[in-house]
This record gives sequence, C-alpha cells and structure tokens, in this order.
Amino acid sequence: MLIQQKELSDLINCSYHNWYDDYKKNCIKSFSLEIPADVLNYLKQDYFVLPKECNLSDACSSNTQKIGETSSFSDDEAEEESAPEFREFSDKITKIIDKLGGSAFIKTNWHSPKDSVWITAGQTLRVKDLCDVYQLLKASSICKEDLNHVSESNFCHIIFKKWKDVHPGTEFRCFVRNRNLIGISPRDWPQYHEHFKAQKRDIIKDIVSLFKEKIKDKFPIDNYCFDVIRETKDHVILIDFSPFNEKYTAPLAFDWNFLLGDEIIIENDDEESDNPEFRYLDKDVGIQPNPRNNYGFPQEMIEMFKSSTLSDDQIEELNRITLEQTEAGSSQEN
Ligand SMILES: Nc1ncnc2c1ncn2[C@@H]1O[C@H](COP(=O)(O)OP(=O)(O)OP(=O)(O)O)[C@@H](O)[C@H]1O
Ligand SMILES: [Mg+2]
Repeated sequence: MLIQQKELSDLINCSYHNWYDDYKKNCIKSFSLEIPADVLNYLKQDYFVLPKECNLSDACSSNTQKIGETSSFSDDEAEEESAPEFREFSDKITKIIDKLGGSAFIKTNWHSPKDSVWITAGQTLRVKDLCDVYQLLKASSICKEDLNHVSESNFCHIIFKKWKDVHPGTEFRCFVRNRNLIGISPRDWPQYHEHFKAQKRDIIKDIVSLFKEKIKDKFPIDNYCFDVIRETKDHVILIDFSPFNEKYTAPLAFDWNFLLGDEIIIENDDEESDNPEFRYLDKDVGIQPNPRNNYGFPQEMIEMFKSSTLSDDQIEELNRITLEQTEAGSSQEN
C-alpha cells in the first residue's frame, strides 16, 4: 500500500507505543515490546513454524494443543530443526504476560490480530503464553500489514494489554475534526443496546469530559478518531487512537462523506464546541449482521498450511471450525 507523508505522520501519532505513556492513567495497563529485526523478519514471513521455545514443556499451556492432537504444528523433526529461536525475546514475552496477571490482549502498532482468532482452540484473543502470542501474530494478515507499514525494525512493537472482559454495549468510537469532537458511534454497530437511549446524555457527557480534560489539547494532530469503553457512569477508559481516514478507520454509525463534509459545522467557541452527535440504533430491529464476525478462516491460509506443516487431520479440524463459524454467523443473520 502506498502511503503519503501526511498519512504516515497520522499513523505514527496513532501508533500505540507513541501515545500510551501520555494517557496511561486513563488506559488499560499495557507494556510495549520492541520487535528485534530477526523476530520482525520471522513474523513477516508466510511460513508457519512456531519458534523452538514454544515446544518447551510449559510454553504452551492454554489455548494451545489447539488443532488436532499433537503438541506442535508438526511432528516432522526436520521442521523442528529449522524452527527459529528467539529465547531472549520470548523470555520477555513470558515475563510481561506474568506481570499482567497471566493473560493479555495483544496488538501490533495499530491493530489486534482479530482475523486470526480462529486459530486458537478457545476462539479468543486472550493470550496466556508464548505460543498464543506467536500463533495469533503469525496467522494475522492485519498485523502483518501493520508490520509492513514501517520498515525500520525499531519502530515495530507488540503491545500487551492486561486482559479485560469487555461488554460490547460499553464501547464507543469517537470522531475528532479540527480538534472538535463531532461524532460518537457505538463500536458494536449495528446492534441494538437498550441503555443507549436512556443513558444518551450521560454517555455523551462522560466521553466529552474525558476528551476535553485529557485529549483535546494534548493529542498532537487535529483530525483523528479514538475508541473508549464507558464501563460505568463517570468512568471512561481510552482504548485506541486511529487516523481520521477512511482507509484506516471504520465509520460505524456514520459515513465518511458525512464526517468529512460541509454538513458538519465546527464551532470554535468553547461553549459551542465538542457537542457531538451520538448515533445509535434506537429500535430493536432484530439481530443484525455483525461486521466483527466477518473474520473467518482465510482460504489462502488453508493453502499455505496444506503446503507446509499441518497434517490432513489438522486441516480437517480447521475446516470444521470454519464451517461451524460460518453456520453460526448465518444463523445469527437469519
Ligand atoms: N485489554 C483488553 N482485553 C480484552 N479485550 C480487549 C482489550 N482491549 C480491547 N479489547 C477488545 O478488542 C476489541 C478491539 O480492540 P482494539 O480497538 O484495540 O483493536 P483494533 O485492532 O485497533 O480494532 P479496530 O481495527 O476496530 O480499530 C475492542 O473493541 C475490545 O472489545
Ligand atoms: Mg484501532
């Protein structure tokens, strides 16, 4: 993907490790681990072999033993021989997961590996050990794209956030234009959540407060989006920043023509500014297709696995999981 200078600078400002320290009091506790060149090179490659240290007895205890009955992706000793080894880096990962209480949510600079959740036995992004981390990242095209955005290895990071169970009705995406908060959308769009209507004023008030007190005058660019969780009244947690750009950020309840267009009047007067529109479904129109469920099992991965390390049984198991997901998705939509 060709990236313009302005776009790149927006991306850099929105990269988790660049903003987290300035906002950490309002964020979920996180650690950022710089990816060394050899690991970066490994993560960018398409072949799917886990590092040797994943085969140590206590390295893969949780979501792993995932596919088929075997303890690693391949029984092939030659492959085991050719597996890379990143002991020092892997030790750091294990220590960070321990420090976060034994489980974490991971991201690369901008994105979580939500497209590779299918690869874990528990169908979860919750990582508990080394293998979960390598496996999710290796299988994620979204994270690979993140890593490809920046060529200098010292700029690529894995972010580890303390795991937190999140209720979808508490998540919001906020749109900022010319340093004004212009729109708020539920992230779980287009699902109906009864409390939005009743709590509309408080939701807006709490998010505007966080924005005005902590973000507005501090975030270095004028146009951007940010995501929050409003757990309870007066308690809003900052989750992420992303560019104010249709290439990188889903508009959810809005559309980019509206967000970028003249219909929105931006007031510079302090009294009038930051008066965002909160758009949500105010009627229950039945279960809607959820774009977040669209991350299925990619065909090219099946091909890749076929040609490399998985046995036929393992492929069959993966196909079974995919089929189950597809059926679950379509029965939700009906
Ligand atoms: N620490 C956490 N523990 C558990 N789940 C989390 C955590 N942080 C985020 N999530 C969940 O994962 C979802 C995606 O997180 P996040 O927004 O950081 O990912 P993303 O890849 O940047 O997504 P997007 O592409 O939509 O911007 C959140 O909406 C939330 O439901
Ligand atoms: Mg994001």
